[in-house]
Amino acid sequence: MKKLLDNITAEVTKAFVEAGYEEKFGKVTLSNRPDLCEFQCNGAMAAAKQYKKAPFMIADDVAARLQGQEMFASVESVKPGFLNLKLSEEYLAEYLREMQADERYGCEKTAEPKTIIVDYGGANVAKPLHVGHLRSAVIGESVKRMSRYIGHNVIGDVHLGDWGLQMGLIITELHERKPELVYFDEAYEGEYPEEAPFTISELEEIYPTASGKSKEDAAYKAMQATFELQKGRRGYIALWKHILSVSIADLKKNYDSLNVSFDLWKGESDADPYIAPMAEQMKKDGFAYMSEGALVVDVSEERDAKEIPPCMILKSDGASLYTTTDLATIVWRMKDYHPDQMVYLADKRQELHFVQVFRCAKKAKMVEEKTALSFVGFGTMNGKDGKPFKTREGGVMRLERLIAEINDEMYKKIVENRSVKDENAQKTAEMVGLAAIKYGDLSNQASKDYIFDVERFTSFEGNTGPYILYTIVRIKSILEKYMQEGKNPNEGTILEAVNDSEKNLMLELSKFNSVIAPAFEEKAPHKICSYIYDLANAFNSFYHETKILSESNEEQKKSWIRLLVLCRDVLETCIDLLGFEAPERM
Ligand code: ARG
Repeated sequence: MKKLLDNITAEVTKAFVEAGYEEKFGKVTLSNRPDLCEFQCNGAMAAAKQYKKAPFMIADDVAARLQGQEMFASVESVKPGFLNLKLSEEYLAEYLREMQADERYGCEKTAEPKTIIVDYGGANVAKPLHVGHLRSAVIGESVKRMSRYIGHNVIGDVHLGDWGLQMGLIITELHERKPELVYFDEAYEGEYPEEAPFTISELEEIYPTASGKSKEDAAYKAMQATFELQKGRRGYIALWKHILSVSIADLKKNYDSLNVSFDLWKGESDADPYIAPMAEQMKKDGFAYMSEGALVVDVSEERDAKEIPPCMILKSDGASLYTTTDLATIVWRMKDYHPDQMVYLADKRQELHFVQVFRCAKKAKMVEEKTALSFVGFGTMNGKDGKPFKTREGGVMRLERLIAEINDEMYKKIVENRSVKDENAQKTAEMVGLAAIKYGDLSNQASKDYIFDVERFTSFEGNTGPYILYTIVRIKSILEKYMQEGKNPNEGTILEAVNDSEKNLMLELSKFNSVIAPAFEEKAPHKICSYIYDLANAFNSFYHETKILSESNEEQKKSWIRLLVLCRDVLETCIDLLGFEAPERM
């Protein structure tokens, strides 16, 4: 379905051309004076210069040609040369009827579906998920859902940090605690036990203890263990597999509670087999060279304002780095999936890393010229004090704890709102709590830091997730009552708007197909948030001014019900793209 704004532009353009002006002057935009009109065209102002005429003469001429057009309720030429437009109620109603008849509400799928890998989540194995990983998961999940909705073939990959020093740290600490474990016996040749020698809570205690031991000796041992693990020492690999499976089971649980899921559970370690051949190839092709013992690739470009240091492929001891695993990951992704695009979600402080990786991949022809590599860098989630979000005691906030705190807060509010006891209150609190967290995050432009304000985010009023859900629930409850009258909300058609608030709601609804595609292109879920906030406000104004269920004219009532159904469907589609859902009541 064509966008409403494009249809209007086409009509106005036609009038410009008929009047003897160039097409380009017919562009119509949303009005920035909603008190005067709904849409406006400023083309006459620009045309005036080119045609050396007074702008109002041009505007008058065009307006005259648009009079009586069925698309418009009014077309006004106002000095010095603006065109103020109001849409005809009938035209708008017809547009919404078409929208409602379409299962995608007028938002067409892309004509050129691409294969896109979204690299997000990025949790580090054996370390508890903390709030720093929240943004990657939340924004990435939304980017993935948006691109899928647009019709692309999308693969979400969690890209676990599972190959670094933390593994050596854990192995070393474990050795100290339980030297008798068979994994440490180098002479052992038998099978290793299937059961892990630790639980997730032990594991989560081991890591901070180990990383706290800053003694040189411990650090050296951990590096040595990491090195041996990466070289494939049997016992260490077996231990590492235990660490992975215990940790991944826990991560899945956490991501589930965030309504985040991945198609691939690959990690840095999966890149390992590709590292040596990749380094060889880069040397052979003359891209990589030795510098102070390390293997590097120059990635600086003349136009750089700031110097971009060479991309390091291997350290002088042959060990790999974060850049190495990211590059080798590109190798297997190209081989297995041949993506047209790879999108990475990570803290914006990792920007230089990604600039180096992307340039190196292009330069060494690991990807095609046209393969798009994009980095979505997000800002920090801060506390009310403007510093990175911490627990009340000042420690690193675990994600589980954050979610639990929000859910408790939501539960209290929901129970306060209830006159009768509700067994579902806990479940509802979880749904609303998730919306509070996700909307609170996503409604900010990703690259900006934001303040995680529990009180504000959990409020039922204002630009919050709970407000959006409250609006959806309000619609659902009207529809429910309508059905209790024995009527079917899927019958009847949307009629012309009878007042301004209804027309405004209809105009908001009509924007749906112009919001989603740009939100995806710009990897900007906040655009969907601001759309649904406007839509929810428009609905609530309409609701407060209109007695829907007590309307005596049946056709009118049906029409409003149909409008409510469309509004619910559009809102629910949007929150699904953001990665949360609405309860039946709250
Ligand atoms: N594990 C990394 C971290 O915690 C994030 C991974 C981001 N993705 C990537 N392909 N480098 O910082």
